[in-house]
Order: sequence, then structure tokens, then C-alpha cells
Amino acid sequence: MLNPKLPKIWYGGDYNPDQWPKPVWDEDMRLFKLAGIDVATLPVFSWSLLQPSEEQYDFAWLDEILAKMAQNGVYACMATSTGAYPAWMAHRYPDVTRVDFEGRKRKYGKRHNPCPSSPTYRHYSVKLAEKLAERYKDHPTLVAWHISNEYGGYCYCDNCAKTFRVWLRKRYGTLDNLNERWNSRFWGHTYYSWDEIPTPSALTEGFGADGEKSAFQPLSIDYNRFQSDALLECYRLEYEAIKRITPHVKITTNMMGTFKPLNYFEWAKYMDMVSWDSYPSNRADWADIAMRHALMRGLKGGDPWMLMEQTPSQVNWMSHCGLKRPGMMRLQSYQAVAQGADTVMFFQLRQSRGAAEKFHGAVISHAGHEHTRVFREVAELGKELQQLGDTVVDSRVDAKVAMLFDWENWWALEYSHGPTTDWKYVPQVEKYYRALWHQNIPADFISWEMDMSKYAVVIAPSAYMLHPGYAKRVEEYVAAGGTFITTFMSGMVDETDRVALGGYPGELRRVTGVWNEEFDGLFPDQKNRLVVKEGALAGSYEVGLIAAVLNAETANVVGTYGTDFYAGTPALTCNQFGKGTAWYVASDPEQTFVDRFLREVCAGKGVRPVLVAPANVEVIQRKKGERTFTFVLNHNGSAVEVDLSPVSGRDLLSGREMAGKVEFPAYGVAVLA
Ligand code: GLA
Ligand code: ZN
Repeated sequence: MLNPKLPKIWYGGDYNPDQWPKPVWDEDMRLFKLAGIDVATLPVFSWSLLQPSEEQYDFAWLDEILAKMAQNGVYACMATSTGAYPAWMAHRYPDVTRVDFEGRKRKYGKRHNPCPSSPTYRHYSVKLAEKLAERYKDHPTLVAWHISNEYGGYCYCDNCAKTFRVWLRKRYGTLDNLNERWNSRFWGHTYYSWDEIPTPSALTEGFGADGEKSAFQPLSIDYNRFQSDALLECYRLEYEAIKRITPHVKITTNMMGTFKPLNYFEWAKYMDMVSWDSYPSNRADWADIAMRHALMRGLKGGDPWMLMEQTPSQVNWMSHCGLKRPGMMRLQSYQAVAQGADTVMFFQLRQSRGAAEKFHGAVISHAGHEHTRVFREVAELGKELQQLGDTVVDSRVDAKVAMLFDWENWWALEYSHGPTTDWKYVPQVEKYYRALWHQNIPADFISWEMDMSKYAVVIAPSAYMLHPGYAKRVEEYVAAGGTFITTFMSGMVDETDRVALGGYPGELRRVTGVWNEEFDGLFPDQKNRLVVKEGALAGSYEVGLIAAVLNAETANVVGTYGTDFYAGTPALTCNQFGKGTAWYVASDPEQTFVDRFLREVCAGKGVRPVLVAPANVEVIQRKKGERTFTFVLNHNGSAVEVDLSPVSGRDLLSGREMAGKVEFPAYGVAVLA
């Protein structure tokens, strides 16, 4: 349980009382009660108020609001406020500001932008966290810690350059080793002194929007690792300071789903629970939203996680900020819960009056009262969550399929030049996850280091970079009976982006039983076909993006290319390896194929949908001991009939017994127990 003090699905969100005069606080308390809100995240951006100068701290206002919350049954997800440093600090100690990708030294402004190597930032952020922990360690409202806010971004300053070199020394020991691993002789890059190694900004090796490309990949990949580690260190310093003082209170920091700069699997090792901020566009595929939830759940092996932020109505920062239609906020909240969340929280509780987020939706709008559509919807959900109590809390999603996700692979693959700039990692993962989601086959996300053995099927799209030991783990998994699926451009490079010699997919060659001799980068309108002559997959499917030209070694050829000079050569193979099977999908097929393919592979392993439902009806189960909760979520904007068999039970939300054919209204939800 996240915290036994609050044994239910937490309901609340970011709260910024310091932006409001005190009489408003009483009104907030009244409205929170009306909305069933029992947790407020604060103070998220109050460093400049909590520490008006280097010598002074002021917690009086925080004492006061926390006391008010305590009287009103509102718990605190206590933030450390270190996501935005005070202006005075940047003026007095310029080391806290970053040097950006263009090489410009930043001045005070915006947020989420301390230099991760800054001694000043590290010193004062930890000190503030410590003071907060000391002061509120026994506070009745304290239920969790929320360190900083949405860590991210890069710094290219001299302090970072120095710490990077220390980091490199630790990783490579000697310059000779680094030069060798980085293949530095290319373009005459051999380094003779550690100080010659630059940060990969636009002034050196980086290019493209925000440095998405690099002229020297091993440097950029390592810099990404280093920056993720450096920010993680900032987090860990605060974590350790707090942990010492409140060892029993769980600590988190809010993540951002498929956020590229941070290796979240690494981060999660140092978090007591995962939390994340979900801001899908109104046009997002519901499968892609589910995927982010599943990815975040996977970071800590499926433990219940916190939906830290979502908007009750609209955001302000997209190009087009549509309102969530009536019912959508509730549906999205239950979608998160269905995917393992034990909290439903918003950004934010009261809408800001001024500055960047004045048009961001909130529970209490500028109107200032409860008579709004959004407030009514929030309050209705609040009531439902109170009725649910602790019923589903601590239950877990039970999946037999795993998607293997890898941040370092993401960085490496997208820094690489060729075979096409259209090749991106996340869309490849989405395509396979979507196929599972649309068939209501639940899937977990795992890292290559996590246990594969409990899954019937493991899918690793474009596993371009192999870590030492990765292929061995895959071989053991398959040999023991697992089914492994990988795709084009897998097994290409090692951790420093050096290509596997002697035949791709390198260390995956034995298990996949194929030799990938060449790969063709296709223009967007240049398509080939994947032709399967017999069996359940028989048909002809469009493929594009990249076409790997394969030689089947021990693998069976299941499908072949339809056109071009490699027509008739393998495009889909299946290799028996020990007791298991490894598939290789040589190109990027249309969604219809991936849907069928995964349905067949899963069925072959006895993995079936929870139930067969109409399009865009998500069905997923959470289990706790002997109890199973089946979430049925109608993501359609119109009513649909769902045949619930073989599932039946009492809907915990409406109290109705449900079995057989049941009509679900637009955005309707049921939780069958
Ligand atoms: C993020 C931040 C919040 C707020 C919201 C707005 O998630 O953590 O402070 O800016 O975005 O959507
Ligand atoms: Zn820096």
C-alpha cells in the first residue's frame, strides 16, 4: 500500500495555495470536501518563498496550510520544491544555470533547468529537502514525498564537462580503452588527454533540433547516460536526505512516460514507487495512452503506481488544447487504475490566475465555485473512489506477454545515421503494443535485465543495441520454451555503438537463426510486400521503412518479400531454439499484419484475450489474492454492446450485476468483481 494512512485510491493533485490569499484557502478546503479530494501535492514550485535569501528560510505559510489540511482530512504528497530555483540563487551563483545545446549560458528563467552538476544546486536542494523532512516528519498529513518535478533536459557547461570526464574515467579506466570502444580513429577523433573530450553540443558533435543527431554517436550516447545519471544523482541526494529522516514514507518523483532523455528503468531502482504525468492529446490512440501506463508500471516490476498528474479538462501547452468531453476524464482515470494506478491526481486543484498556465484546466476554475461541468465531473468521480475504498488497491495487472523497452537502445538507434531518418524507436514499440491492446491481451513492459521467464511471449522491436549479456538472456529464455519476437535492425551494435562483425544480428544470430546480409532504407512511398503462402497468417501485407535482406540459417521461412531484387527472400522467419521459438520480422509491416501475427503467436502459447470486445473497448484485469477485478472501458464516443462472457460479476461502480450482453454508454466504465 502506498501509505496505510490513506487506504483507498488517492484523489487530488497539485495544489499551489501560495499563489492565493489566505481566505481562498478556506474556500479550497470546502471545495476539496465537496469533490472528495483527500490528497494535495505541495509545495511544488515554492522554493523562492520557502527560502527568500541564502540565509533565510520561511515555513510559516506552509505550516498554516498544512494545519488547515490536517483539520479537513486532506493529506500531503509533500513536494520538495526543487524543480525551480529562486532568482537570487541564479544571480549569486551562476553555476546553477545551464549551458544549452547551442552553447549559450542561460540566465535565470523558466523551470526544470538546474545544471545537474552544479555544486550550489546540489547543496541547496538537499538542504531544503532536509529541512522540509525535519519539519514535517511527524505531520499528520504526510503520506508521500515528491522530489523536485519532471526532471529532464541537458546541460553542456564546463562543470558538466568536468564531471562527464570523471564519469568516463570510471567507465573506461584508460583513454586507450575509451578510444578503442568509441572507435575514435574514425574522422581522426583519437583523444590524448581526458580534457580533450567535449560535451556533444551544437558547437561540437551534435546537430538537429535539440541535438537529436550526432556526428559522433559513442560520445553522444555516453553523454546521454551521463546526464541521466547526473540528474538521478541530484534526485538521489534529496532521496537519501529524506529517507534518513522519514524512513517509512515512500518517495517518488513524477515521470513523463516515453520521455527520451532519462533512462527511467535506471531511475526506478532508486524510487519507492513510480509516479507519472499523463497528458494525452484528445486525438491520441487510447492504446498509446495505455502503453505509457504499462511502461510506467513496468519500471518497478508491476507495483501499483501513482497517476500524479492529468488535466481534469484541458492543457494549455499543446498546439490545440481541446476539452475532455463529458465522461472522458472519468474514463481516463479508470484507464490508469485499470493499468495499475492506485491514485488519480490532477494538475491542478485551483487554476492559476496568471502566467504560463492560466489557461490550463483545473478542478476549481477561474469561476471559483463548484457550479461548473468540470467540478461536477470531478466530484462524481470523487464519490465513486470513496465508495471503492481499498477494494482494488494493491491489486496487480497479470500479463503473459512482455514488451522489452530500452532507453539506451532508443538513444543509440536515433543518433545513428542510416538507413532512414524515418526510423524511430517508440513508433515501432507502439505498433506491437497496439496490436495486443486492440485484442485485449494485457502486456507488461520490462527491461532486458528483468525476468523474462514468467512471460509466454517477449517482444523486442528494433533491439538495435545489445548490452553485454542481453543475447544470453534471450537464448536462455527461448531455450527454456519462451517465444521471442524481434524485428529489423536488431543486434546491430554494442553499448558503444560498434557494429557486430561477422554478420548481423550479431549475438542474436544463433537464437533467431538468420543472417541479415543487407538492409534497404525505403522512401515513404516505397513499399514492398510480405507474402505468407500458407497457415493462419496466409496473405500479402504491405511493408515499408526498412527491409532487411536475410539468409535463413536454421530458421524456417514463414513469409517472403513480394517485389524488388530480393523478392522471394525471407521477410518473416521462425527459429526453433531449444524448447522455444524466436521470430524475426525483417521489415515494418502494416498494422493488420502485426495484429494477426500477435494474435496467432499468443494463441499458440495459450494466451487469449480477457474477452473479445468491440473496437476500442479495453478490457483488463487486476488481481489481488483470490479476487479478480475486470475493468471494461468503452473508449468510443458512442454506446456499444459488449458480450462479457466468460466474465461476469457485480459492477463496483453502479452496483449492478453484469453478465452476457451489456450495453455500455459512450465512455462508459465498469469494474466487475
Ligand atoms: C507538468 C508539470 C506541471 C504542469 C503540467 C501542465 O506535468 O509537472 O507543473 O506544468 O505539466 O500540464
Ligand atoms: Zn552543467
